[in-house]
Amino acid sequence: MNLNERIPNNVNLSEDKRLQRALEKWLPNFLSWWHDMGPDGFQEKDVWLRTAIDVGSEGWAHFDYVKMPEYRWGIFLEPAQPDAKVGFGDNYGAPAYQEVPGEFRNALRRIIVTQGDTEPASVEQQRQLGHTCPSLYDMRNLFQVNVEEGRHLWAMVYLLQGYFGRDGRDEADALLERRSGNPDKPRILEAFNQPCDDWLNFYAFTMFTDRDGKYQLSALAESGFEPLARTCRFMLTEEAHHMFVGDTGLSRVVKRTAQLMKQNRSEDVRALGGIPLDIIQKYINFWFSYSLDLFGGEISSNSADFFAAGLKGRFKEQEQYTDHIAADGTFTMMVVENGKLVPREVPLRNALNEVLRGEYVKDCEKGLARWNKALTDEGLSERLCLPNIRFHRHVGEYAGHSFNIEGNLISKEEFEMKKSEWLPTIEDREYVRSLMKPVTEIGKIANWIAPPTSGIKGKPFEFEYVRL
Ligand SMILES: [Fe+2]
Ligand SMILES: [Fe+2]
Repeated sequence: MNLNERIPNNVNLSEDKRLQRALEKWLPNFLSWWHDMGPDGFQEKDVWLRTAIDVGSEGWAHFDYVKMPEYRWGIFLEPAQPDAKVGFGDNYGAPAYQEVPGEFRNALRRIIVTQGDTEPASVEQQRQLGHTCPSLYDMRNLFQVNVEEGRHLWAMVYLLQGYFGRDGRDEADALLERRSGNPDKPRILEAFNQPCDDWLNFYAFTMFTDRDGKYQLSALAESGFEPLARTCRFMLTEEAHHMFVGDTGLSRVVKRTAQLMKQNRSEDVRALGGIPLDIIQKYINFWFSYSLDLFGGEISSNSADFFAAGLKGRFKEQEQYTDHIAADGTFTMMVVENGKLVPREVPLRNALNEVLRGEYVKDCEKGLARWNKALTDEGLSERLCLPNIRFHRHVGEYAGHSFNIEGNLISKEEFEMKKSEWLPTIEDREYVRSLMKPVTEIGKIANWIAPPTSGIKGKPFEFEYVRL
């Protein structure tokens, strides 16, 4: 572990002069991107952050006050496995790739660029949120997520610059040039071009969209391209906190709404300054459906190629499966044919996006169960739910068709008529925004959200997480 170098790393960077030079050249561009597109304001404030300093499961992180521009973004890979093998696909059992195999070069670069693009994109989406934080605890969590997404960008840039030569360097530069939501140079994936300008959006984003990240990284952590697998394994350690922020954030909003509803059953919770359950439901519908798109088409020759090549596996490929070739299996899914939903059987390898999406949905359902428990605990019978996976999709088999929240095919006209019941309207968004008044006094919290049950790393909620 080289922590004192300009770029902290555990990849012996100082012994690879060419790569070190490329990364040191990229560093000031990253910092100027961070300055322009990172969190607005607060850059000079001390934030109580964790910084990765090791990759072991114990004690990998150090907590202290840091000014964000001075955060030690580094390159950390899980240790190499001796005799690592390609764990699935046509080359199953062959030695893992330590260099990029020529025939898979374009596919691999595309995978890494697509993952890499999401990291700075989310920072851009969230850059104004510090100004409206519900508490110092939440502000600190926002900035923690932001600096770690910055580190994830470093992780992907390391792979591009270290293994893809000239075009890898060009791609690394382009990662700092695209902008979330900019029509001329948008980010690659649509969920990362959607505004995330209030805290309900932020919690839903970190719950649903960062969770997509968990599944993509898990599939890449199985990769036969070992540097990618080792990079992603360590990123997953950090990612867990991002999902925690979203999951518990939504849970706390639900809890507070339930408390306010109980106070006065006959009154609209808006009158008490809470976020009504139907608005929470619409935000869930919005971010869940956009996040489902991130897994790609249901029937995909890319997914088959990536698996065959040993580049991208299934979720817990080694733990969950015995047949790592998956050449003969089939998968049945619903598709639209002649205006009707009908089952179609497809070769398993072509259905791997859908298989991964299924794992993701199961995980999201657990979150819903926790939020519904918060409602039960407050004695309410109302329930939140996930919309059907076909609802409001822009990628894959269901894009271009209209479905209701239960997943039944409906006409475009009907969808347009009902849309305001299912997805956030301008009025809903304006109402949520109207609640977003910053609360920055130590130990205080906004009225529309409940405090967390505990603080960060043994600190109480009443702790000066950000020194303003
Ligand atoms: Fe990330
Ligand atoms: Fe994340």
